[in-house]
Amino acid sequence: MSKTVTDNTLQAIISHAKEYGFVFPSSEIYDGLSAVYDYGPYGAQLKKNIRDYWWKSMTQMNDNIVGIDAAIFMHPTTWKASGHVDSFSDPLIDNKDSKKRYRVDHLIEAHADKLNEEAAKAADGGAALRDRAMKLLADMDTLLANDDFAGLGALIQDHKIQCSVSGTSNWTEIRQFNLMFSTELGSVAEDANTIYLRPETAQGIFVNFLNVQKTARMKIPFGIAQTGKAFRNEIVARQFIFRMREFEQMEMQFFVKPGTQKEWYEHWKNERMNWHLSLGIAADKYRFHDHVKLAHYADAALDIEYEFPFGFKEVEGIHSRTDYDLTRHQEFSKKKLQYFDTEINQHYVPYVIETSIGLDRMFLLILSNAYEEEQIQKEDGTTDARVVLHLPAKLAPIKLAVLPLTKKDGLPELAKALMDECKPSFHCFFEEKDAIGKRYRRQDAIGTPFCVTIDHQTKEDNTVTVRFRDSMQQERIPMSEVKALVLKHIA
Ligand code: GAP
Repeated sequence: MSKTVTDNTLQAIISHAKEYGFVFPSSEIYDGLSAVYDYGPYGAQLKKNIRDYWWKSMTQMNDNIVGIDAAIFMHPTTWKASGHVDSFSDPLIDNKDSKKRYRVDHLIEAHADKLNEEAAKAADGGAALRDRAMKLLADMDTLLANDDFAGLGALIQDHKIQCSVSGTSNWTEIRQFNLMFSTELGSVAEDANTIYLRPETAQGIFVNFLNVQKTARMKIPFGIAQTGKAFRNEIVARQFIFRMREFEQMEMQFFVKPGTQKEWYEHWKNERMNWHLSLGIAADKYRFHDHVKLAHYADAALDIEYEFPFGFKEVEGIHSRTDYDLTRHQEFSKKKLQYFDTEINQHYVPYVIETSIGLDRMFLLILSNAYEEEQIQKEDGTTDARVVLHLPAKLAPIKLAVLPLTKKDGLPELAKALMDECKPSFHCFFEEKDAIGKRYRRQDAIGTPFCVTIDHQTKEDNTVTVRFRDSMQQERIPMSEVKALVLKHIA
């Protein structure tokens, strides 16, 4: 039997995710809500498994990291102190003819992509076009770093960048657009009651710095981890769950002594990459991308990028945030947020290294990496096809499918006994309907790593057939060894 892989486009992954109960468009019966998604039965479990894997790696595997669960709503001054009210915005531009609104960086990047596509087809090799695309992106980075909107506008005009809808270059001025959602708390009359849905979970950690340090008796260096929802009014929402308006983050703020931030930045850069690789994903699917334009709070920053079906994109950020956040919260709250270091007998505001990963984006990464359409060449010369999710066993929503060969002769009872033995330890799935091959295919499609078939021989010698998802190999083993086999692979 040999296998070949075919198409794994984003569109195929989106359709598969919907068909097999991983991800649905939000409120689909009302035609959906742009950039908002719901997770179905297998999606919710897969998402939980990714979250748990992260949470365990942070709070259980590190003695000096503890977790919290802060509220989504925070005092509005939080967002003044953090800088989000003044500078959490994207530069936008509108096309006057089509009225379509673009994020300036996305508009320019799309034009650079077009130039590179033309270069690939050019008879002369396309070197000049490629140089133009590279210079365009470099100029954009410099102008964005200096908040030079007039320069960006001129760049768009110089390159005659057109709207994909109207085909014209009739652009408005570039404006900043704040990404935070606001709502009212209590009485709607007063301005002071306007509050925001948090655009990141990090601030819930900063404002609780002293509460956590004192109650958990933490000594620097130490970290506080949190997972939870964040909200951003993304103007350009594209690529499925890659960029959403409501999403979940898994963030960890690591508090260090000032002056040691560089070594901890390196430490967390390596630790986080190792976490990704521990899931068995090929190293060449990842790369680091150092930031040219640093956020207002950072003295160093990089992205961990993964090669999605639409190219290398950010999945996680590692940021050296200096003492910016704690100092700002000190200023705005008039409360001291300092640490007394008994080793040097001194108070100081700690520096912070942040690791911040999007749970939904990690979910898309896992799904993209796992999805495969296989053509199977069988020994009898015929071909077969299957769609399989090669999910890491520890993340798979269902670990074991228990399949009695027939609905009679006591086989379902034996299968149920195995289910009862395994259920307390991991998620199992029981199915007695349809031919066994069809049942295997359904489990392949949701990424179940092991199927066990109970047949008439089981009644005689208590052995079962284990079928392995990735190799499709089958092995006869004692039923009493099934649980241990699965546990070994998901540990
Ligand atoms: N506290 C730092 C912070 O929030 P960020 O780079 O803006 O940094 C961190 O976001 C991570 O959150 C990103 O690497 C990405 O995985 C995820 N993320 C950000 N915006 C997102 C969105 N609109 N939809 C899905 N995930 C998003």
